[in-house]
Amino acid sequence: MIQYFAHPSSIIDENCKIGEGTKIWHFSHIMSECIIGKGCNIGQNVVVSPGVVLGDNVKVQNNVSIYTGVICEDDVFLGPSMVFTNVINPRSAIIRKDEYKKTIVCKGASIGANATIVCGNEIGQYAMIGAGAVITKEVPAFALVYGNPARQNGWVSEYGHKLEFDSDGFATCPESGEKYLLLNNEVSKIGLIVCE
Ligand SMILES: CC(C)(COP(=O)(O)OP(=O)(O)OC[C@H]1O[C@@H](n2cnc3c(N)ncnc32)[C@H](O)[C@@H]1OP(=O)(O)O)[C@@H](O)C(=O)NCCC(=O)NCCS
Repeated sequence: MIQYFAHPSSIIDENCKIGEGTKIWHFSHIMSECIIGKGCNIGQNVVVSPGVVLGDNVKVQNNVSIYTGVICEDDVFLGPSMVFTNVINPRSAIIRKDEYKKTIVCKGASIGANATIVCGNEIGQYAMIGAGAVITKEVPAFALVYGNPARQNGWVSEYGHKLEFDSDGFATCPESGEKYLLLNNEVSKIGLIVCE
């Protein structure tokens, strides 16, 4: 049997899959058919709507609602009280359940406290979204973005440090020592080449 922790005040609806080592804290509600990976932390007062998929090691801070249509890949961080949306033109009197837009938050991305993601905009892997940002466009991998509307203000490493690229387009993360390349306005991490 898979071992996870759910505080007695939390509610987990039918047909959910929850991975080993995941913790679900006070007053949170996991709705039907959700898939939550291993080692996740779901804070207090979080709602995970029907059919949402969260990868492994996803950290959700307090007061976040993850609506149907949202997918968070492994290692995603959702800051306190950040806001997802899933309908672009909501009207109370018009049912738009068939029009939910998909929002994918790719591996390792972090979303700051109180940020709002307008639906349908993919957040690239390891992107860093500042506190209070309003995301209205796709966010490239490794981009640092903030403000309302959010604008890009550089690039960050997997460890979350600003990357300073030299004239050849190379940068080194000050914490991990890993190297990155900026080419055609896209950042990639350079793997180690082992010579025999
Ligand atoms: C965006 C962030 C990652 C820092 O980016 P940075 O480029 O290193 O920011 P700096 O501190 O060097 O500030 C650069 C400028 O951006 C502004 N700025 C920084 N963060 C901002 C934000 N979230 N929104 C708007 N402006 C911001 C600063 O005021 C500064 O402006 P100035 O040049 O006019 O003085 C950080 O400020 C942030 O918002 N982190 C998220 C924190 C959070 O929500 N954590 C949740 C876990 S509890």
